Amino acid sequence: MNRGGLGITAHAADPGGLAQKRRGLAVSTHGLVHIYRSEGHDVAALAGVDLEVQAGEMVGLLGPSGAGKSTLLTLFGGLLRPSAGKIRIGPFDLGSMDESQLDEYRAAEVGLILQGAARNLLPYLTPRHNVEFAQSAARSAGRPVPGVGEILDLVGLAGRSATPLAALTPGELQLVALAVSVSTRPGLLLADEPTSQLDHEARDLVLAALRQVNHEVGTTVVLVTHDAEVAARLPRTVTIRDGRVGGEGRSGEEYAVVSADGSLPLPDHVLVGFPPGTLVRVHEEDGRWMLIPVREGEVATQDD
Ligand SMILES: Nc1ncnc2c1ncn2[C@@H]1O[C@H](COP(=O)(O)OP(=O)(O)OP(=O)(O)O)[C@@H](O)[C@H]1O
Ligand SMILES: [Mg+2]
Repeated sequence: MNRGGLGITAHAADPGGLAQKRRGLAVSTHGLVHIYRSEGHDVAALAGVDLEVQAGEMVGLLGPSGAGKSTLLTLFGGLLRPSAGKIRIGPFDLGSMDESQLDEYRAAEVGLILQGAARNLLPYLTPRHNVEFAQSAARSAGRPVPGVGEILDLVGLAGRSATPLAALTPGELQLVALAVSVSTRPGLLLADEPTSQLDHEARDLVLAALRQVNHEVGTTVVLVTHDAEVAARLPRTVTIRDGRVGGEGRSGEEYAVVSADGSLPLPDHVLVGFPPGTLVRVHEEDGRWMLIPVREGEVATQDD
């Protein structure tokens, strides 16, 4: 049996093999706040995120620049500590873990693809050696890991395992970054704009490989994207706006989401008719709820 040995295709009995499907980790946040503290001024990047992602789901994070998407991903990865609120990944309550527990969590449970494939790779090594290097800590700690050939196969790079990175296309480099990030069979894969700066063909290959990891390994996948075509192909999207959940998309349909504090962020196109401070009559008719903006002069006063 191959217990993390290199280059030998794993089989179902291999405890570290990809065929031994693992259960993805669920993500749960409640009132999650993150403030970057710097001299002079603080930036509230997240202002109360309530979000549930089921184990094994694949979710896209959307939203304008500066909305807090990367900050959220970084908190999920245990690289930052929240300023306030709760964050639970599977059985791990990240807010209450000490540094060594967080180190262990990052090493054993999380795969992270930072924005820009090159940042995730050692440029002078081949794809095979990049994956082997990424597995070395797990191997020294005695954790079983999948065979390198099996991982490269999974992401569609079987024929490129010994090709120098300098000879790979941008799409292939991103696939190597994906192979590295799943090399220890994480329960949660976090990818920050993995398809940006790729042509359509490469983008589709990377998206297909992410789906493959999600389906075959059972890993929960959370990816940030600005690409509407990528978003349209994901089963679920969550839009982050001003550091909060601004809405959700399911199978192409957009929904507003009620926050834990009872607030309901309205979609941008609806907000046009509801400038800040607008009084809204919340009215039920025939089982349907209506939001009716009240104009000046229509407001009841004590004199009425
Ligand atoms: N290290 C940091 N120090 C101070 N402020 C930061 C830091 N990182 C991010 N910010 C600020 O926090 C807010 C959220 O940033 P974040 O990078 O999470 O947004 P984003 O949604 O990923 O944006 P983009 O789409 O541009 O990548 C922004 O106002 C940003 O300027
Ligand atoms: Mg970002």
